[in-house]
Amino acid sequence: MPQIIFRSGPDQAETCVQAASGISLMAVAVRNDLGLAAECGGACSCATCHVVVDVDWFDRLPPMGGQEEGMLDFVEGLEATSRLSCQIMLDESMDGLRVSIPQAD
Ligand code: FES
Repeated sequence: MPQIIFRSGPDQAETCVQAASGISLMAVAVRNDLGLAAECGGACSCATCHVVVDVDWFDRLPPMGGQEEGMLDFVEGLEATSRLSCQIMLDESMDGLRVSIPQAD
C-alpha cells in the first residue's frame, strides 16, 4: 500500500495517508477530507482536483494525457508540476509521493 503525503489547508500541514493501489490520488484526498473539491468526480472536466506535485516526484508519475493538459489551462495558480489528481492512478511505485493541495481563495 503506497503511503501518500499531502500538504493541505491554510498552513499546508502534512498528512500521511495509507492509500490503496488502483484508486486515484483524488479519491484518496477526498476520502481523507483534505479539502479537495473534485467537483466532477474524476471525469477530467472540472480541474478542481488540482494538486502540485513535489519536484522530485513529477517525472516519476505517468505522463498526462491531452484532456488533462487541456483542463489544466483552467487552473488558477498553475505551477510547473501541477497535475489533476483524478488522473493519477496510484500503484506501489508511488510509495512516498508528496503533493500539495493549493488553498482555494
Ligand atoms: S475531479 Fe474534476 S477534473 Fe479531476
